[in-house]
Amino acid sequence: MPPDPDPPQRSRERALAQYRWRASRYDQELRPFEPIRREAVAALGLRAGETVIDLGCGTGLSFPLLLEAVGPRGRVIGVEQCPDMLALARVRAEACGPGGIELVAQPAEAFHEPGLRADAALLHFTHDILRSPAALDALFAHLRPGARVVAAGLKWAPAWAWPTNLFVWAAALYSVTAMDGLQSPWDRLAQRLADIEVRPVLFDGAYVARGVVPDGPQAAQTGGPAARRRGRRMAPVRSAPPKNPP
Ligand SMILES: C[S@@+](CC[C@H](N)C(=O)[O-])C[C@H]1O[C@@H](n2cnc3c(N)ncnc32)[C@H](O)[C@@H]1O
Repeated sequence: MPPDPDPPQRSRERALAQYRWRASRYDQELRPFEPIRREAVAALGLRAGETVIDLGCGTGLSFPLLLEAVGPRGRVIGVEQCPDMLALARVRAEACGPGGIELVAQPAEAFHEPGLRADAALLHFTHDILRSPAALDALFAHLRPGARVVAAGLKWAPAWAWPTNLFVWAAALYSVTAMDGLQSPWDRLAQRLADIEVRPVLFDGAYVARGVVPDGPQAAQTGGPAARRRGRRMAPVRSAPPKNPP
């Protein structure tokens, strides 16, 4: 009997199949979640000329907002493993104009751009990536000390909020390859950040979390175990819609 593929490989195959199947209707399906995207991008606090990594960029729905924030001298680097999603991201990147958006056709785990030290990273609805230590290793190897990291996505609501959890269950079945970690999807990120703040959104069935890459290895301890597990509460972040959505 042939040996089983290792678990990350199995879930990668599942993720590729999932998004190959969803790609053509993905943008439409994500429309109701756009306020969360705007909040997540605003929480990055991007400035003109900065470099931001959009890990698991999908069809590039965040590109216009990110590009508007970093301006013509900035860089937006989208990393995506699914060719069908990436093809749509390429169309969107071209619509945004030449130069500003670079696409990397790779699993997040294999992301390697020598010399890159980005100022910020976005992980928007990328639960599988947040559960992958190898993907986080690759991401953090490309972030400078002080870089801002924002993650957003689904999470379990408190048990009494069962209608919300019914929605989270159905949506997660449809978009992640394993349901583990939905209690606090940011917890592996939090172990690597100096501090993390989490704001529940969508009736507590989703979250926006943000933190900062520490200057040294000790700084990652500043949140304390409880804060790292649950995350601190974050004040609402103001955000504005993009001026020129494609
Ligand atoms: C729910 S979509 C989110 C897309 C985009 N971030 C957005 O907000 O619209 C998840 C994306 O992550 C990609 N993905 C999942 N696992 C990945 C991995 N290990 N490396 C790169 N991309 C991955 C999927 O192919 C899919 O495009």
